[in-house]
Amino acid sequence: MTDNSKPLDPQKIPRHVAIIMDGNGRWAQRRGFHRVRGHVAGAESVRVVTRLARQLGISYLTLFAFSEENWQRPGMEIRVLMALLRRYLHRELSEMRDNQIALKAIGDLSQLPEAVQRDLEQTIAATAAGARMDLTLALSYGGRSEIVHAVQSLAREVAAGLLTPEDIDAARFARHLYTAGMPDPDLIIRTSGEYRLSNFLLWQSAYTELYVTETLWPDFRENEFLTALEIYQQRQRRFGLTQEQIEALNGKEPRD
Ligand code: FPP
Repeated sequence: MTDNSKPLDPQKIPRHVAIIMDGNGRWAQRRGFHRVRGHVAGAESVRVVTRLARQLGISYLTLFAFSEENWQRPGMEIRVLMALLRRYLHRELSEMRDNQIALKAIGDLSQLPEAVQRDLEQTIAATAAGARMDLTLALSYGGRSEIVHAVQSLAREVAAGLLTPEDIDAARFARHLYTAGMPDPDLIIRTSGEYRLSNFLLWQSAYTELYVTETLWPDFRENEFLTALEIYQQRQRRFGLTQEQIEALNGKEPRD
């Protein structure tokens, strides 16, 4: 519960929350620090938000940790981000295991440095039994590339005579995305006040509620997360139906 606010409704906890973690650089620069200090503070927000998501019963938490476009950043910043990611994986392994959190990764992981790929593989394997929450890191991830990759994979199946073009529908298409098997996000949070998706989960966000806060990612901690969830709970999700149709469903979500 945040100050002056109602407690969260346990019946309306989103199943899948995805976050565009933005504003690390600005957070640091406003304090006269180098940008990388913002990433260090941002890694702490990752810990805090993951722990709270797990406590609240969120089943899927997906974090946009490194985009395809981020490869164009200065080499030193990329190296720091990769080192922070490795440190995070080492430090959080026991907490993930103790809390039944399964680590996953989406994106073009083959682009990551070998040491990062190895640590990721090891952490994914070591946490695979975690049944309470999937923590998915989007790394070297781009939504358009993900869609192109899915199209290529389906085209190969058609060319091999395993499918006809008419066999392709939205459900089959989704099974060829990196997120196969995951529900679409109910809520996407973006920090630092930019109103855009920046190539994140483009297919999956068709009906997702969006929440943008001015708060910079390193300042996004328990209270900010709870506020985002309260605002989500006040939204009415209609999935293209009328108000009357929604009421007739009696609290059930139309796409269940
Ligand atoms: C955006 O801030 C953030 C990133 C590009 C990277 C996110 C990384 C972390 C939160 C830390 C490490 C991650 C893990 C999973 C431990 P920005 O640099 O674009 O900020 P700016 O827009 O203010 O420049």
